[in-house]
Amino acid sequence: MRKLIIEGQNRLKGEIKIQGSKNSILPILVATILCDEECEIYNCPNILDVKTTIEILKYLGCEVVFKNSCIKVNSRNLNKYDIPEKLMRKMRSSIIFLGALISKIEKAELTLPGGCELGPRPIDIHTSGLKMMGINISEKYGKINCYLDKKIKDKKIIFPFPSVGATENLILAAVKYEGTTLIHNAAQEPEIVDLANFLNAMGAKINGAGENIIEIIGVKKLHGAQYTIMSDRIVAITYLCAAGITQSNLILHEVSENHINSAISLLKETGCVIKKYDNQLKIISPERLKPIKNVRTMPYPGFPTDAQALLMAMVSIANGTSVFVETIFESRYKHVSELLRLGAKIKVEGNVAIVDGVKELFGANTAASDLRGAAALIISGLAARGQTIVSGVEYLERGYENINQVLENVGASIFFD
Ligand code: UD1
Repeated sequence: MRKLIIEGQNRLKGEIKIQGSKNSILPILVATILCDEECEIYNCPNILDVKTTIEILKYLGCEVVFKNSCIKVNSRNLNKYDIPEKLMRKMRSSIIFLGALISKIEKAELTLPGGCELGPRPIDIHTSGLKMMGINISEKYGKINCYLDKKIKDKKIIFPFPSVGATENLILAAVKYEGTTLIHNAAQEPEIVDLANFLNAMGAKINGAGENIIEIIGVKKLHGAQYTIMSDRIVAITYLCAAGITQSNLILHEVSENHINSAISLLKETGCVIKKYDNQLKIISPERLKPIKNVRTMPYPGFPTDAQALLMAMVSIANGTSVFVETIFESRYKHVSELLRLGAKIKVEGNVAIVDGVKELFGANTAASDLRGAAALIISGLAARGQTIVSGVEYLERGYENINQVLENVGASIFFD
């Protein structure tokens, strides 16, 4: 297994172009199966989750070419409606093929990502929404069988929680479905807006994406489209935190500043100065970071759970105590035990983490166990005295395009073992 080795305490300087968004490209690639013509998607990040999605598309019979950050998909010859477990297990977001396959051929046979049983396993919001659209869903031995049972003309679905994946699944299921579908308490993340914009470019009629209620007026047919993926807001926050923890100044290109407002206001609380020029952001970091009183992860436009570990790594060396409350995922503090190895002082009680800033971190052997946790360890390693080793870097490859190269280009000492 590959490891990353970081020699810490180098200041970063220079410019970084932010990659295309992971959480946008995945549902958009899935959406390409809804027409029988070629779709061209630009600004695609070359990351593992994209490769997995392409693998599934090819398994289903689609022609896919990925070249120079452009992916061309033609689904004219899609001839399967099942996805084997080994592909489903690779990526949780594979579940949104469900809505798309129903839309395309009115049936789907998938396994649960991770092979868990339905019920307490959280895809209940997806399945109950789909059932309200007249889709029959049964589950046995970890396999989910779905088919369009009865067409319901006007559908109003109220989510108990604004799940991102469930909103995407329902949109995909509804775009070519006769009549109007209303999703209440829909997720408002920018990635939902990107998906709706792409589908509208294909001829769909989706109104209200990015708001609490989304209206989807079913159309008979969609056509091919060309589309450029928005930039990745979590990757942008990653590099802002890398600058903050190393007292560095960096310029980020291709950032949608309004997608990261919640993070920017917290970064300002730490004493970072953030300046905006067109779609560039400049961060100027203080000599010593100030703590953040209260970081609460929330659905968009709140502070994103995906950035919680990143900000926590950063304020682990702030001058005082920061408090984090994780409200989206139950066990999203797995990075904490690894940050402790570097000398951070963090106490976790339930969904609250109290971070007492230390003066300095010290290099250590660490192991990542999830994507953003891995990035948090890298951020800490950049600031730590001496050498930090991060194993489990395969998680990084799921969402970051050449993170080591990007950081090396701005002055970090980071290389693969
Ligand atoms: C997406 C993002 C992920 C991000 C998350 C929350 C992608 C590929 N992934 O994941 O990076 O961290 O949004 O912003 O876009 N839940 C249920 N039942 C369901 C669905 C979800 O209980 O049917 C719960 C989940 O367990 C979790 C919370 O709702 O606690 C949020 O999940 P959701 O918004 O669905 O996240 P994902 O779409 O999986």
